[in-house]
Amino acid sequence: MAIHTLNGPHGPAWHLATPTTSWLLAIGPLGHLELLHWGPTLGQASDVDVAALTPQWPYTPGVVVVADEAAAPTYSLGRTTLAWSGPGKGDYREPGVEVAGENVVDLRYVRHEVLEGVVGAPAPLPSCDGDDDTATLVVTLADEVLGLECDLVFTVAAAHDVVVRRTVLRNVCDVARTVTRLAAFVADVPGVGLEAITLDGEWLREAHPHRRALEPGTVSIGSVTGGSSAEHNPGVVVCERGATETHGRAWATNLVWSGNHRTALELSWTQTLRWVVGEHPQGFAWELAPGDELSSPEAVTAYSAGGLGGLSTTLHRFVDDCVVPAAWRRRERPVLFNSWEGSYFSFDHGRVVEMARAAAGLGAELFVLDDGWFGHRDDDTTSLGDWTAHAGKLPDGLAALAEEVVGLDVGFGLWFEPEAVSPDSDLYRAHPDWAVRVPGREPSLARHELLLDLCNPDVRDHLVEVLGGVLDSAPISYVKWDMNRKHSDAGSPTCPAGEFHRRWTLGLYDVLARVFGPRPEVLLETCSSGGNRFDLGMLAFGPQIWASDCTDPVERQDIQTGLSLLYPPSTMGAHVAASPSHQTARHTPLETRFAVAAFGALGYELDPTALSDDDAAAIREQIAWYKERRATFQFGRFRRLEPPQGFLRQWVVDDDARAIAVHHRRLVPAADLGHRLVVPGLGAERPYLVTIRGEGGTTSAAELAGVPLQFPASGSLLAAGLSLPLEMGDHVSHLVDIAPLG
Ligand code: DGJ
Repeated sequence: MAIHTLNGPHGPAWHLATPTTSWLLAIGPLGHLELLHWGPTLGQASDVDVAALTPQWPYTPGVVVVADEAAAPTYSLGRTTLAWSGPGKGDYREPGVEVAGENVVDLRYVRHEVLEGVVGAPAPLPSCDGDDDTATLVVTLADEVLGLECDLVFTVAAAHDVVVRRTVLRNVCDVARTVTRLAAFVADVPGVGLEAITLDGEWLREAHPHRRALEPGTVSIGSVTGGSSAEHNPGVVVCERGATETHGRAWATNLVWSGNHRTALELSWTQTLRWVVGEHPQGFAWELAPGDELSSPEAVTAYSAGGLGGLSTTLHRFVDDCVVPAAWRRRERPVLFNSWEGSYFSFDHGRVVEMARAAAGLGAELFVLDDGWFGHRDDDTTSLGDWTAHAGKLPDGLAALAEEVVGLDVGFGLWFEPEAVSPDSDLYRAHPDWAVRVPGREPSLARHELLLDLCNPDVRDHLVEVLGGVLDSAPISYVKWDMNRKHSDAGSPTCPAGEFHRRWTLGLYDVLARVFGPRPEVLLETCSSGGNRFDLGMLAFGPQIWASDCTDPVERQDIQTGLSLLYPPSTMGAHVAASPSHQTARHTPLETRFAVAAFGALGYELDPTALSDDDAAAIREQIAWYKERRATFQFGRFRRLEPPQGFLRQWVVDDDARAIAVHHRRLVPAADLGHRLVVPGLGAERPYLVTIRGEGGTTSAAELAGVPLQFPASGSLLAAGLSLPLEMGDHVSHLVDIAPLG
């Protein structure tokens, strides 16, 4: 069992144990839930360990508030390390809960339960699955004055080294209470010498990692855009100062939620770090009627003593095994061709078939028709909401097109943007009241779109019916679910303003569950102007996310490096596009574009009918080469290597079958000193056959430099470092295939 109930000096205590990680929780002298340890395993922790880790408070310094002087004369909530906290009793750090009109929320121990398996969040909130060694601890606290109970839920997926947190607040009195904040996770950890890493950015430049020392005060990241946002991903890493990819202690939290969110990291005067994760409290006001309860989304947490790389490995396994939909777990994703950058809005039936035929000839397994196939949409100003085939472009209808494409031996996929509506659409003309707006104000547009009111059950029923109808009308095996605007004018006649954002996101989940739950074989790739909603909530419904509208491989190296901190390669839609890049105008070799996109769910997004013979042959070879290694690329152990110079990026994936490394050189330096690729962690004595790919699979410059392109090497040699070809030119990437011999 992953959860052991122990006896602490003041009440029950619990050891949450995974092979490498321990949490030690204990009830404090006044009934608050204390966090005594979150970090390396304590082995078989006992009552003695609880006593040893329980803080001693021999005196009370100066002016601190003592919550109950009679019961615990020196005990101050502001000084201790807690796993949950409310305001008003001397803990001035970021609280986990707030109630409108109340300056005190004081939740103390009532009971607990240890259960086998997962206790999931109530639908439509997404829930992570567990593994065979999963158990759940529910500690119930209560504030008797306010008539509130609070369940702190800890689900320990022991075989995955992950603990999932969630909080439930229940109104057990006879008057309504308005909750203005409810965190999923609160933890206080020793705070000296820590750094935080966050993934921040914007459209075309998502998920750039930012690392900073944690000094006294609060670092907070969040989103009030209505979605999890490219500005700040909800996943956060804290590590010890100087932690590397392979060394140092590192912790992570990530919210299973796609709406507004906030993570606060507050280093207090006590030298502890208060870490709070949850929905964003800005504007949040949720009425809890007597008897009602409110559940936070889940927060996934992990710890690794093996540096940032160790932490990523843990998180990747958990996402692949326990977060993405069951039907797609560890299931290889098809190589697709997407029409967007190849033809944008300009296509018709014949052109789509031509593109799909060319794609099939190159080895594609799926052809995706992107935006522009419906209503009378010839640009981005019209027709969102009218999900019927564009009569001018597709006069024979969608089913005829899909069947013809499928007849070419490739699957057929289709783009939708169901959460938005164009003012110029039949849907809007019929139901103007279905667009999100605040009475008396004209709603603002973004990309000429309004937001559909997913708080309204009629809107949701309509979407479920229409989308389900389209999916059942034709052989569609993939959906790209896009969303191209942030929230504004957030109002719905169906709910109070303070409930809008949460209800809207729950409405989205409801629609996703009802459309794709009955159609588990449809591969759902979500998207929000690229990676504007790259989060675990969306991954619970669709196993991959279009990582960025930037297909320039140089920028993509940073985006995919950043995302890889928290998300496995299998979740990242990554495409080879034309050169020069449509986003940056940068020219890059085809091999470089492939060498980046291969570390994800590989696709191509260019016009396959317009390729030169050489490029067509190269792409055919790339796809065949990728398919042979696809399981390793998508589900192997992905690691970021630590190249010696800032202009390099190096990654490796490996599994039992092989390893594949890549060396990206973004800029050629003057007086280049040469390049080494150090690949640690393979079988030291194992013999491998190393093959270095260059542009088109070979490189004459490499031969000139005297480096054989194929040679045997042991794991220890690879760990010492391979010398790589000194090919001239910027933006050159080399894939290195490392196949066990014998
Ligand atoms: C934004 C997406 O991120 C793109 O990939 C593409 O689907 C466009 N929308 C289509 O409008």
